[in-house]
Amino acid sequence: MKILGIETSCDESACSIVEDGVSVLANTVASQIDIHTKTGGVVPEVAAREHVINMLPVLDECLLQAELGWDDIDAVAVTRGPGLISSLIIGTETASVISYVKKKPLIPVQHIVGHVYSNWLEAETEVQFPILVLTVSGGHNELLLMRDHNQFELVGETRDDAAGEAFDKVSRILGLGYPGGPKIANAALSGNEKAFDLPRSMLEKDSLDFSFSGLKTSVLNEFKTYVASNNIKNQEELPDKFRNDLAASFQKAVNDVLSNKVMRAYDMFDFVKEVHLAGGVSANLELRKLLIEKLPTTVKFRHPSSIKYCTDNAAMIASAGYFLYQKNPEDFGVENISPSTSFSINY
Ligand code: KG4
Ligand code: ZN
Repeated sequence: MKILGIETSCDESACSIVEDGVSVLANTVASQIDIHTKTGGVVPEVAAREHVINMLPVLDECLLQAELGWDDIDAVAVTRGPGLISSLIIGTETASVISYVKKKPLIPVQHIVGHVYSNWLEAETEVQFPILVLTVSGGHNELLLMRDHNQFELVGETRDDAAGEAFDKVSRILGLGYPGGPKIANAALSGNEKAFDLPRSMLEKDSLDFSFSGLKTSVLNEFKTYVASNNIKNQEELPDKFRNDLAASFQKAVNDVLSNKVMRAYDMFDFVKEVHLAGGVSANLELRKLLIEKLPTTVKFRHPSSIKYCTDNAAMIASAGYFLYQKNPEDFGVENISPSTSFSINY
């Protein structure tokens, strides 16, 4: 079954065609990074206007790349939410029109569920349930227990910032730019992760929740102290060594918390066959390394097979759509759906 996926929840206009939830036949994306770099983050109105310009060319390119016509497409899957409402609407409108005009079943996908399915894309071996999943992005951060397709138990979530959001904010404090994750990871390569003693909030003894706001404030305090005592007037005057050391210390603190929480959860749910890492922060190589070191070799550890499936993409939406459809095909028909910022996972 070939599914066309559409994702426009934030600043990427993305289309993909995926066969049977795993084989990516085409994956096209128009990134807006260059535009949002100028403002240091995404301006929703600007993102929406770019989606309007990019959506149809990205769709055409996708069909061309797969060498397929509309008759070959069995269904359309689209991110319904959560995300920026003005961005989501471009994707859901496009998908609804395709569904109506081309008479294809329409499958609305929850964005985080989409990220979960990024680990099915081009997977070398068949994924085995039950699975413990750490989803960690700019807008969300949770630990999920997944016993079967589309069966999620929320076992932990962030009480304040998501880890990706903390990466983005710290990057802004250090003047490293947007998007924060890759910039911090790059600066950290030349930094000393022990240079600053930053807090690692593990919360209550049995808690699987996360909190990153204290860590973010500590980084801000280190920055302010340094700036005041060295009479620094603007971010450009910061020496590379300070930037790199603080980036490395921050990254290590986030990754210690994330990996220790996964280990705490694994101790509680040691019956799981696999542990998955998903979402934009799953692109972080140091985090992957820590998890590989800490997890026993008896459990299968997966992260998305390519960096392009870590951050927002449409292939994961097509994959999630496939497995949703397989469970209850009768639930999906030709439809006109609206976006929903409060569209949540069915726990
Ligand atoms: O999943 P995603 O593309 O969008 C959301 O659903 O939020 O995740 C974006 C987040 C951003 O906060 C970005 O800084 C972070 O993922 N990110 C990273 C890396 N690459 C992207 N964080 C840490 N290390 C990376 N290499
Ligand atoms: Zn995302």
